[in-house]
Amino acid sequence: MIRPVEWRNGAVVLLDQRLLPAKEVYRVYRDYREVARAIKEMVVRGAPAIGVTAAMGIALGMQTAQPRELARSFERICKRMAATRPTAVNLFWAIDRMKRAFESARDRGPEVVREILLQEALAIHDEDIANNRAMGAFGAPLLPKRGTVLTHCNAGALATAGYGTALGVIRAARESGKLLTVVADETRPFLQGARLTAWELKKDKIPVTVITDNMAGHLFKNGDIDAVVVGADRVAANGDAANKIGTYTVAVLAARHKVPFYVAAPVSTVDPNSPTGEDIPIEERPAREVTHVVGEQVTPQGVKVANPAFDVTPNQLIAAIITDRGIAKPPYKRSLAKLLKTAPAAMPGGTKKRARKKPAR
Ligand code: MRU
Repeated sequence: MIRPVEWRNGAVVLLDQRLLPAKEVYRVYRDYREVARAIKEMVVRGAPAIGVTAAMGIALGMQTAQPRELARSFERICKRMAATRPTAVNLFWAIDRMKRAFESARDRGPEVVREILLQEALAIHDEDIANNRAMGAFGAPLLPKRGTVLTHCNAGALATAGYGTALGVIRAARESGKLLTVVADETRPFLQGARLTAWELKKDKIPVTVITDNMAGHLFKNGDIDAVVVGADRVAANGDAANKIGTYTVAVLAARHKVPFYVAAPVSTVDPNSPTGEDIPIEERPAREVTHVVGEQVTPQGVKVANPAFDVTPNQLIAAIITDRGIAKPPYKRSLAKLLKTAPAAMPGGTKKRARKKPAR
């Protein structure tokens, strides 16, 4: 399985996603500030992967924190992680979990604090993979027995600790014998679809066709798309879902052509503190991502550029939200609130989360 983020020998190891598919480079981080920079600069990206990386970055930073300054160091490191990217709520969810772990251990001395924080980060990593598998098991039955599924951006192994959310559902459906092929939107400007989704599906021998974003309408009109599955960076309490810019356009197309549009996201992506999509902050990324394509400037010098990195799909356009605790159906305010209160699911089919082996320290 593709492992975009790992803890190895006392360091955080990230697969540099900026270089894919041309180069597979793993970078080793021993300084939490560099981990924060890696999140900001998209070495690692995707909501769950960002959360896992931030947790590991916090554990990393605390390994060298001065014993007399533990609380102050912890606060500083958390603040640095929180300032990396604003939209994916998994980042803040993971930081909150680390804060609770810190509170439970702070009076037990620096060694215990360090160990507990590391164990919590590793648990967040391992649970993410188990949650993705659960999502896959819940979501696979929703997809047709055969046909073509369109996805936008990369909500795969690369965007998580492994296996993926939207791509996890597609993987699980294929593993259950469904004959599905995938259409991947290229996802300008960062090209997560063309570079990352195509790379990981090709590696898994799942048939994939890449299209530029503006081709999707033509395919829907021709009846070439049977279902849509996308991930999410933050799902509001009412089911409005923020995901990579261009997702809303796909959702409108799906509604126009009566194709089911599914969002796959763990409950850690559901933000009860965002009542609607209006409350979700949308990251604005550097203009250079739009003005330049693989290093070449494609716009006139000095032209005005907008680069909102996410958009919000209104809940009315979403047929179901596939979570690790089951399927949420409209009205989402009720179904999501219920799932948030549900205990983590034993997976359909009986597979349980497994305890982690001792990591290489
Ligand atoms: O800017 P990115 O690449 O971090 O955006 C990622 C997405 O929008 C994904 O679709 C989302 O995080 C879901 S990942 C399982």
